[in-house]
Amino acid sequence: MFEDKTVLTGVKPTGTPHIGNLVGAIRPAIELGNKVLDAGGRHFMFVADYHAINAEKDPVMLTQKIKEVACVYLAFGLDPNRSVFYRQSDVPEILEFTTILYAYTPKGFMNKAHAYKAFVDKNLAAQKPDDDGINMGLYTYPVLMAADILSFDTDVVPVGKDQVQHVEIARDIAGIINAHYNKELLKLPEYSLTKNAILVPGLDGRKMSKSYNNVVPIFADDAAIKKAVYTIKTDSRPLEEPKDPDSVLVYQIYQAVAAPEQVKAMAEGLQQGKLGYGHVKNMLLDAIINLVKEPREKYNYYMAHFNEVEGMLEAGRDKARPVARRTLDRLKNTVFGR
Ligand code: ADP
Ligand code: TRP
Repeated sequence: MFEDKTVLTGVKPTGTPHIGNLVGAIRPAIELGNKVLDAGGRHFMFVADYHAINAEKDPVMLTQKIKEVACVYLAFGLDPNRSVFYRQSDVPEILEFTTILYAYTPKGFMNKAHAYKAFVDKNLAAQKPDDDGINMGLYTYPVLMAADILSFDTDVVPVGKDQVQHVEIARDIAGIINAHYNKELLKLPEYSLTKNAILVPGLDGRKMSKSYNNVVPIFADDAAIKKAVYTIKTDSRPLEEPKDPDSVLVYQIYQAVAAPEQVKAMAEGLQQGKLGYGHVKNMLLDAIINLVKEPREKYNYYMAHFNEVEGMLEAGRDKARPVARRTLDRLKNTVFGR
């Protein structure tokens, strides 16, 4: 299905990742990349650092987040020798591309983009002026994202629900340009919605999210992970009382991190009144530690030897730039009638 296809994913450096990010985004992206490469396709994966500066203005924090996100993907098995792994800001062709796209993008596309609208809604709810704190980077975010995608003649962009509209905007902009010049100048990208993505609940039962402060961080030490697991919400039902596994939050999180036979064993133990909350928390703790143990070592290694990662990103840049250059030249030649 992916033979001869180009699949591209951008990741925003947003801060220390948690189990929800791992299960819902990081692992699926790496697995899909490997599937594409095995089928003979091309996989581009980049750190969207220009997108990140819209929100993060502290250079120290920004550098830290960029390093973290690059090391997380490498730790969980992204192979930079197979995937083209680069930093967006190392590929200036994308920015030239963005400037050209501006000229063809109706302003109305930006006004209706969800990420921008959500910000406006938040301002209005807080009785602030609608554009309070909104910079042009955030407002025009979908154009840069379109350039990220179109620069590489991308066929497929794997996304979560929140990014579908952005890919549609990229497609629409490409369509406008193709229609204007009456030729297939830019490839129209499609999105593929990450299927059956599990939504991992957090320590309090709401979606696990940085913004709720209810996360199990992936790369904390064992003691910190234990502390998080022990604070997962439970109720006062006694051990012997048979419980519907789905009514037990620890079990819901366990499903995201344990092997199927382990999940089955926990379900049965709860149903039969043989496992109490202390037991299931220990089982969950073991499963999480088992899941992160090896990647954590790799992650710590890469963070401590970032010069090696830097080398990988530079090699990725050197593979990415000629591809982007070719697409950009094609576009420029037509736009300027060269
Ligand atoms: P957060 O909610 O912690 O701020 P982000 O919005 O930065 O996380 O999400 C980064 C990626 O991780 C997105 O692709 C998102 O779908 C995925 N993700 C975040 N939280 C979860 C979760 N609890 N379960 C599954 N996937 C998640
Ligand atoms: N907007 C994406 C997010 O918030 C990140 C991103 C930037 C991206 N450019 C992209 C994703 C291009 C896919 C393709 O997660």
